[in-house]
Amino acid sequence: MRIVVLVGLPGSGKSTYLERLGAAGLSSDSIRQLLADDESDQTIHDRVFETLRYLLRQRLALARPVTYIDATNLTLQERRPYIAIGAAYGCQVEALFFDTPLAVCRERNARRARVVPSEALAKMEERLVPPTTAEGFTRVSRVSDVDPPASRP
Ligand SMILES: Nc1ncnc2c1ncn2[C@@H]1O[C@H](COP(=O)(O)OP(=O)(O)OP(=O)(O)O)[C@@H](O)[C@H]1O
Ligand SMILES: [Mg+2]
Repeated sequence: MRIVVLVGLPGSGKSTYLERLGAAGLSSDSIRQLLADDESDQTIHDRVFETLRYLLRQRLALARPVTYIDATNLTLQERRPYIAIGAAYGCQVEALFFDTPLAVCRERNARRARVVPSEALAKMEERLVPPTTAEGFTRVSRVSDVDPPASRP
């Protein structure tokens, strides 16, 4: 079993990547929608991530081979729970880093339906810490625009 933690700013292409892969990740935005009928409700953060972790544990209990965590996962603090859950269930935890330049995220963000405010995006870039194996990931891969999902293992 594997947990794949996606890491990247809003607009970096995480959900699009999963869509192209034909994989359904556990998405914090989808959970916001399920819980509060609003995919951008930022007032229920703790409940959203508690639900996400609950769903992840249920999938691992069912021995699903791979679970993608589709959230920004910008900091060690946000990523640590998945490493701990992986250890508890004896599964590999990998990071997939969407190293998309801020300017590109900004441009894509401006063109889509759910627009993240520009200042919020800048603050998030300041918080972003690239994932490393030192924090407990078995493997860290980078996704750039030149990597089509089909070419990745
Ligand atoms: N590789 C790409 N090339 C061109 N456009 C892209 C690419 N990846 C994503 N986009 C476009 O950028 C926008 C944002 O992408 P996406 O929703 O996948 O970002 P995200 O990382 O999931 O953001 P969020 O964290 O806010 O959910 C979408 O409109 C999408 O169509
Ligand atoms: Mg997304």
